[in-house]
Amino acid sequence: MASAAKTASRAFLRSTPATSSFRPAARSTRFAIPQGLRSSARRGYSSEAGSSEAGSQKSSSAGIWAFGIAALGAGGAYLYLNGASPKGPFVPTQADYQKVYDAIALRLQNETDYDDGSYGPVLVRLAWHASGTYDKETGTGGSNGSTMRFAPESDHGANAGLKHARDFLEPIKTQFPWITYSDLWTLAGACSIQELGGPSIPWRPGREDKDVAACTPDGRLPDAAQGHRHIRDVFGRMGFDDREMVALIGAHALGRAHSDRSGFDGPWDFSPTVFSNDFFKLLVDEKWNQKKWNGPTQFTDKTTQTLMMLPTDIALIKDKGFKQHVDRYAKDSDVFFKEFSDVFVKLIELGVPFQVKPEDRFIFKASE
Ligand code: HEM
Repeated sequence: MASAAKTASRAFLRSTPATSSFRPAARSTRFAIPQGLRSSARRGYSSEAGSSEAGSQKSSSAGIWAFGIAALGAGGAYLYLNGASPKGPFVPTQADYQKVYDAIALRLQNETDYDDGSYGPVLVRLAWHASGTYDKETGTGGSNGSTMRFAPESDHGANAGLKHARDFLEPIKTQFPWITYSDLWTLAGACSIQELGGPSIPWRPGREDKDVAACTPDGRLPDAAQGHRHIRDVFGRMGFDDREMVALIGAHALGRAHSDRSGFDGPWDFSPTVFSNDFFKLLVDEKWNQKKWNGPTQFTDKTTQTLMMLPTDIALIKDKGFKQHVDRYAKDSDVFFKEFSDVFVKLIELGVPFQVKPEDRFIFKASE
């Protein structure tokens, strides 16, 4: 817990990161209005208030200017939103993606009036649910498409509550219109893990947004009321082995269940805004009893009765193949961090036809 506490203070007492305003030189010129044009437009608008003939002449010429500027603006906006410019297509660099990272990190630091004080956990869940629909047989689903923007996928029971995460990222998308939602959601997951004190998550761009026709059928994400066979079925369909399944579910160190979303209720550990191996330590060290309540079957710790485990979490200590990895991760946080990072990268890359090579993935600088 001491190290978790230290990480907590690192995560939340960070100084403000570099400013997130995005003004690459190549693009700022695209919107530049020539000096003369700008001042006559200003003059034109101010004369509209006057009633003299000269004023109305000025006003009509101002109207022409205003129309011209609007047309320029619309054309510029079109090119901008389509990633093109008169100078050629805008190709974002690692520095541009770092600016997106910084903007998300800053927003995480500012928006603390939510849940346990951070949107980080629900952003990690968004990245996972966007990716965890992947089916290796058909190559469908996965993070490449961000189809959870549309009903019916947004209305799938498993995705309840993820609107909070999608809405949180909307101002970032407005600030950086060139990034796809698919890249943004996965980048936000990587950013949240790092900002909450977790391992580095190397990341690469290249996901394309798809339309509603690419929505995956309901039922591809795991059902928490099930056991070990279901976990292997669902994660096996994505291409993961036992070790990887256990590592991934270790993300339950973060956040909490909400009775108005999944029906389950409560956090898995005492520091839900700090990435740690506490989920595994508690699974091994605590005694977990079935909670007596008027809700779905879940488990509570004998000592404080304030924490919870889902039936699928408890399956990790009931099944021998899973338990050996729970033990390894409970014992050694470094091993968990390393293996979690590798498997989370694999998760958010399932089914994506990248141009960027694996060895060229970006390592984002976390805020300080
Ligand atoms: C057997 C597999 C899994 C099941 C059944 C499961 C189920 C759930 C459920 C029921 C919740 C509570 C949702 C709510 O009420 O708000 C939840 C939350 C969460 N899950 Fe999982 N999950 C699984 C795997 C994963 C994986 C692989 C990750 C990430 C790599 C993950 C990350 C999270 C996070 C961060 C939260 C907290 C969200 C918040 O605080 O809003 N889960 N999960």
